[in-house]
Amino acid sequence: MSLGRARGAMCGMEHVSEIKAVRERVAAARRSGRRIGLVPTMGYLHAGHMSLVEASVADGLYTVVSIFVNPTQFGPNDDLDRYPRDTEGDLKKCADAGVELVFLPAGDEMYRPDASTSVQVRKLTDTLCGPARPGHFDGVATVVTKLFNIVQPDRAYFGQKDFQQLAVIRRMVRDLDMPVEVVGCPIVRQPDGLAMSSRNVLLNGDEHGRALRLHEALCHARDRIGVGERDPVTLTTEMLDILAAAEPRGIDYVSIVDPETLQPVLRIERAVLIALAVRLGPTRLIDNMVVDPHAAGT
Ligand code: PAJ
Repeated sequence: MSLGRARGAMCGMEHVSEIKAVRERVAAARRSGRRIGLVPTMGYLHAGHMSLVEASVADGLYTVVSIFVNPTQFGPNDDLDRYPRDTEGDLKKCADAGVELVFLPAGDEMYRPDASTSVQVRKLTDTLCGPARPGHFDGVATVVTKLFNIVQPDRAYFGQKDFQQLAVIRRMVRDLDMPVEVVGCPIVRQPDGLAMSSRNVLLNGDEHGRALRLHEALCHARDRIGVGERDPVTLTTEMLDILAAAEPRGIDYVSIVDPETLQPVLRIERAVLIALAVRLGPTRLIDNMVVDPHAAGT
């Protein structure tokens, strides 16, 4: 008996684990005139993920959520083994939100042992998270390509929380003429400013308090730009001071870059992406903010 036959239904929602079953469901939805929305995730769903789901459901699409902790985007020192999982909780959240299909593949359904093909997006992956996570974006681009091929969505939803990932996927879709519209959705934060992340559960109470410095540093830079500061070096130095108070194990980067090219800017004249990655204990956190010097705020 294959895993895919062990599908279940909750409030009209189905969950399947075989590619073939996804294709059948999506084909049936298309025959009944529906357009397809895909929200790729690694599960342990929170309000950030659900904002993407809500956007797809609000767009009236037959909404497919994939939940797959993709091993190829984790490096040998990354937290694949610690990555949190809660399939039952995730299924309930999806059913409550109006998702129609959840795709929960097993590792061997997604990757054959002799898989020999990967997708690589160059240049955009040379900066920010790229150097600290070699191979990470190849893993992301490859699994997202596979998910696009399996589901063949009209629209796919990604969060600006992973700004570089969104840029990489947009570039891949453009360069490879993939027939999908990529929709970017704003970062969802906790009331205290911390960007929602599945990894937040890995923070202990003390680390959680220290993690608030990430958003504080971004807000500081935004406010300084708001009162006329235009020098990225000055701003990153000030941000590093704020982040030092978080007593990080390491700071991978604090960068002010062009939102299109992701390359550092010498002077802030147009909208910039301010992005950072910080290690708090064993947990790596990222956050970012787009700031337009000519706008009141973002
Ligand atoms: P994951 O980290 O589970 O995130 C799934 C999607 O949710 C991504 O598009 C991410 O940007 C978005 N997201 C996460 N936190 C968010 C927040 N606070 N606000 C808004 N959106 C948020 O990103 C991945 O999984 C994987 O790399 C994946 C694309 C699924 C490929 O394996």
